[in-house]
Amino acid sequence: MQSSILLLGVLASAICASPVDQQPLADPHAVVEESNESHLSPIKASTTGLHGRFLHITDFHPDRYYKYGSSLTDDESCHNGKGDAGYFGSEGTECDSPYSLINETFRWLEQNLKDDIDFVIWTGDSARHDNDEQIPRTPQEIQELNEFMAEKWVDLFGTRKNDERISGSPQVSVPVVPTFGNNDIAPHNIFMDGPNVWTKRYAEIWRHFIPEEQRHSFVEGGWFTSELIPGKLAAISLNTMYFFDSNSAVDGCADKSEPGYEHMEWLRVQLEILRSRNMKAILIGHVPPAHTEEKNLWDETCWQKYTLWTSRYRDVIVGSAYGHMNVDHFMIQDSHDVDFDFLVDKTTSDRISIESKADYINSLREQWADLPSPPRGIFDEEIPSSSPKVDANKKKGKEDKKKKEEKKRQKFLEKIEGPWAERYSVSLVSPSLVPNYFPTLRVVEYNITGLENSITSDFMTTTTESLPKSDLRRDSSPNAQKKKKEKKEQRKPDFKVPDAPSSTSPPGPAYSNQPLSWLKYTQYYANLTKLNEEYDADAEKTSHINFEVEYSTDDDIYQMKDLTVRSFFQLAARIGKEGEAKSAKDSASISKKVNQAWSAFLTRAFVGFFDVNDLNVDTE
Ligand SMILES: *[C@@H]1O[C@H](CO)[C@@H](O)[C@H](O)[C@H]1NC(C)=O
Ligand SMILES: *[C@@H]1O[C@H](CO)[C@@H](O)[C@H](O)[C@H]1NC(C)=O
Ligand SMILES: *[C@@H]1O[C@H](CO)[C@@H](O)[C@H](O)[C@H]1NC(C)=O
Ligand SMILES: *[C@@H]1O[C@H](CO)[C@@H](O)[C@H](O)[C@H]1NC(C)=O
Repeated sequence: MQSSILLLGVLASAICASPVDQQPLADPHAVVEESNESHLSPIKASTTGLHGRFLHITDFHPDRYYKYGSSLTDDESCHNGKGDAGYFGSEGTECDSPYSLINETFRWLEQNLKDDIDFVIWTGDSARHDNDEQIPRTPQEIQELNEFMAEKWVDLFGTRKNDERISGSPQVSVPVVPTFGNNDIAPHNIFMDGPNVWTKRYAEIWRHFIPEEQRHSFVEGGWFTSELIPGKLAAISLNTMYFFDSNSAVDGCADKSEPGYEHMEWLRVQLEILRSRNMKAILIGHVPPAHTEEKNLWDETCWQKYTLWTSRYRDVIVGSAYGHMNVDHFMIQDSHDVDFDFLVDKTTSDRISIESKADYINSLREQWADLPSPPRGIFDEEIPSSSPKVDANKKKGKEDKKKKEEKKRQKFLEKIEGPWAERYSVSLVSPSLVPNYFPTLRVVEYNITGLENSITSDFMTTTTESLPKSDLRRDSSPNAQKKKKEKKEQRKPDFKVPDAPSSTSPPGPAYSNQPLSWLKYTQYYANLTKLNEEYDADAEKTSHINFEVEYSTDDDIYQMKDLTVRSFFQLAARIGKEGEAKSAKDSASISKKVNQAWSAFLTRAFVGFFDVNDLNVDTE
């Protein structure tokens, strides 16, 4: 075991040390054309269509009390001004972000990304932590920090100030979709049933981002839908504070009187509307649905419904993006874990809450080690577009071996519910801008085949079309009928169970690569160790920060050909299983079976800040 840990350490530092070139998406020196006509139209005058790229950025945690040169030993907040906390922030600590980091990040976005993205997913925590007893946060400060952050987006994407005077309703040229973080309210974590003072406040702070016709619903519960590509794609901003286990003002999603219940009902209706309009949805939220032996961030009843909803609306949901945890990872929801009895009975689960993030990441791996084991090469096969989801007729192989292999293949596909692994759904968590490790941001690429000439929403279009009277899709496959029968014997849930996609409908963009499917993401990071040193050495004090590529999902290690559930399943299975076969009895052979995927996953979880060697996780 020791030797494998050592080896992984070497491997991980090799990963870290490999030179990463900065890859700006656009020429930073290009003159940004600013149109004077923009006040005539809310859409940027230079509408060149979609770029097939969006930004996911999260957990800025701006802190105006941050003091360059604070001591890091006796001040966990970098507020005291004596010591060596860096100018651009204090990487690898609990300190929040100085304004210099926030400003520089937006400068970088302006020069490198602004003109290449179609929308922004901004998943909360835009105020500092309440971690300094000397300066407790006030509601006023939280509001001001959030106004500051909202203004940053307006500065980046709009010449809206003139607009505002003319029309009273400013527009941004690129849709920005915010969501509540647990630190965007006071006291943190505590979010009451709406309407409340915070939903009202944020309806104002986020007025540039919440479509007019969604304001009412937003004030009710802090949730809203934003149509990103009219008639094609919407973002659904979830108020995860109602699912969050640490919010003691609410109690889950099973009881009709709870805002969590109402939120899930609202979400179901949104997804139903989008399905009926043949549109797709991205779900966004702050607190992710972490659900392992080590950590459950959501109330179990909310997780249950979420997993049921994401399974039933798998034809609609393109992907889900969260923040909060600051570590880079993803989670797989297994629809087989949905327990209707649980949703009716509303028992509380035992929760083991532990601090160590490395242990949490490790528990994910343990979970993935239990995934059905994919036969070699199965994910490399092309899926014929006309093939039934599960081919029950076993082909007659000429040889026994072939027959056996085919049987294994079929069995596996049955387990994962067809070639697209429709048994599962995936939620992605991007690490934070606040430099708990290194500041980081994520650029996701998605398929815009056939949509090239579409433009992003001007927020004028409405998403509130009424639902058709009859439900459009019913799962009528024999298998589903059987399941329905079985379900009747169970206790009846006291909520509407959404219909699954019809058995004849093709798999959604989360399952097979098609327009709007996520293809890959690139994680960028700023090496504050280097940048702070540069700043200190710079007599002129004009040095800037740079984001460099940390990794891309299609690199040599992750090798993901797209971001479909199938691809995540494949990666998770590799992380969980690869190297597992190496046995304790032959420790010499370990060297050949180092689990590269797991080692990289662990390194990337912490934005390349640590050597996996130092994490004290069983890396075997
Ligand atoms: C917009 O027009 C004003 C007055 O015509 C001019 O001074 C300004 O430079 C223009 N701005 C841009 C970005 O073209
Ligand atoms: C950051 O930008 C704001 C304007 O958005 C400005 O008022 C502030 O002085 C800047 N702070 C730093 C440290 O650059
Ligand atoms: C986008 O989806 C289409 C299928 O609709 C596929 O042919 C194409 O290869 C995909 N594009 C990319 C870049 O994967
Ligand atoms: C960050 O910069 C420091 C100082 O230049 C360097 O030693 C370190 O290897 C860099 N780390 C990464 C992950 O880029």
